[in-house]
Amino acid sequence: MNWFGLLTMKGLSIMSTIFVLAVGIIVLLIAVLFVVDILQTKNAVRHNYPVIGRFRAIFSTLGEFFRQYFFAMDREEMPFNRAERDWIEKSSQGSDNTIAFGSTRNLNAVETVIFINCPFPLLDEEVKPATSVLFGPHCANPYEAVSTINISAMSYGALSKPAVQALSHGAKLAGCWLNTGEGGLSKWHLEGGCDVVFQIGTAKYGVRDAEGRFDPEKLRKIAALPQIKMIELKLSQGAKPGKGGILPGVKVTREIARTRGIPVGKSSISPNRHAEINNVVQLIDHINLLRDIAGKPIGFKTVIGASGWIDAMCEEIKSRGLASAPDFLTIDSGDGGTGAAPMPLMDNVGLPIKEALPMIDNALRRHGLRQRIKLIASGKLVTPADVAWAYCAGADVVVSARGFMFAMGCIQSLKCNRNTCPTGITTHDKRLQSGLDPKDKAVRIKNFVGKIHYGTDLISHSCGVSHPRELKRYHCRIVQADGRSVPLDVLYPLPDAAAVAASNVKAEVKAAE
Ligand SMILES: Cc1cc2nc3c(=O)[nH]c(=O)nc-3n(C[C@H](O)[C@H](O)[C@H](O)COP(=O)(O)O)c2cc1C
Repeated sequence: MNWFGLLTMKGLSIMSTIFVLAVGIIVLLIAVLFVVDILQTKNAVRHNYPVIGRFRAIFSTLGEFFRQYFFAMDREEMPFNRAERDWIEKSSQGSDNTIAFGSTRNLNAVETVIFINCPFPLLDEEVKPATSVLFGPHCANPYEAVSTINISAMSYGALSKPAVQALSHGAKLAGCWLNTGEGGLSKWHLEGGCDVVFQIGTAKYGVRDAEGRFDPEKLRKIAALPQIKMIELKLSQGAKPGKGGILPGVKVTREIARTRGIPVGKSSISPNRHAEINNVVQLIDHINLLRDIAGKPIGFKTVIGASGWIDAMCEEIKSRGLASAPDFLTIDSGDGGTGAAPMPLMDNVGLPIKEALPMIDNALRRHGLRQRIKLIASGKLVTPADVAWAYCAGADVVVSARGFMFAMGCIQSLKCNRNTCPTGITTHDKRLQSGLDPKDKAVRIKNFVGKIHYGTDLISHSCGVSHPRELKRYHCRIVQADGRSVPLDVLYPLPDAAAVAASNVKAEVKAAE
């Protein structure tokens, strides 16, 4: 036998030894797992079906990923389906997002929104320039906002540093505002030079003293920054009404702890409520206290459940005068997003924006406060149709959180609470963050905002108006269970005109006093 033959024989003999060894190890491993499974009683499936029972857990975990790619239909997944995510991805990449052949959407599905095109849509040269919204006409530094979509509250902590940087630069490029969320103000929020809305949550991160109480001096300093345009007091959030923010300890890094004024590495659970606000009188007192300190527009964010208190609040405002009113209400949807929340609250508490927005719009109209208090809407408003619906239903401004996460590359892996976000958006793991380039993502954010503006303008022009802020309830219809669509102004009629007029007179008389 020549040397080549000898080498082949030797190679084969080594490979066969490795093979026998590998099979032996596998058999041994199966035997060990068999014994472990049959002896344990914690998991019945593994006990009754040793070894094989383990595949159930493995497939359940893998299924989460595979369903998204292979099995789920385009319009099927939750919270956002593939069609929506693809639209945002293409928009943010600046690529063509026209579609061919026809809509893949079932237009007979209950709750489908259908806009009412007019027979003679506007010519481009007839379109009037977009209108802006003035917040806080009675305060020292009112704020004029133009963009019809802005970045909703997401804290630095829930979000990574590069994500906050990307949002800051992106908001500047897009001409929209960035809400800090309840985790305090960091230099990353200011870095891009965008307009910033500072949020105060129940733990008062960033404006708290050593005992966690509100510190007016800290707010005065923050509000004095020219980039801070408004202050939002967070009462509640759609994903967890009646529960404060939750930041898992694994996400409380040294820098986040410093920004918030809390210990490193310890889970930070905000109180369920602002300790000093337990009724509408205290709410209006606190709004006015904040406005006196900040000299800037102040509003509050809430998800609507009970609604009678809105009437009580309006009565309180009318008895004090228009200047005492909050400058805006942010109405969040019961199906809003979060970094972390308990499932019972996420799934079953709080009204969706579809009901809450026209309800609050009506309440403010009934009390003659609709012009005074601006309405900001949030909750799965991520495509031009969603945003245009919100303007029909009464919004003055729309904000989105997850829409902007998708624009930054979020793949809906549902890991925001685990510090393992694969796209670097909601993790403080440096390795995972390294794939998120703030400069690149800032451009994506600008593109996304641009496509929302373009799409909502298209819908508006088709309906015969110049701009989404001119859309009215009668411009859209909602498909019902019997397959027929009903106009939004029939589903949610505007309040009686005479009652509104009487209320307006009362409010104006009070304002003049
Ligand atoms: C990662 C993450 C963090 C959030 N953090 C806050 C927060 O600090 N304060 C707050 O009021 N809302 C917070 N929210 C809720 C959003 O601001 C928004 O109200 C909600 O997600 C609905 O908007 P969307 O459907 O466009 O996401 C957070 C949402 C997400 C996804």
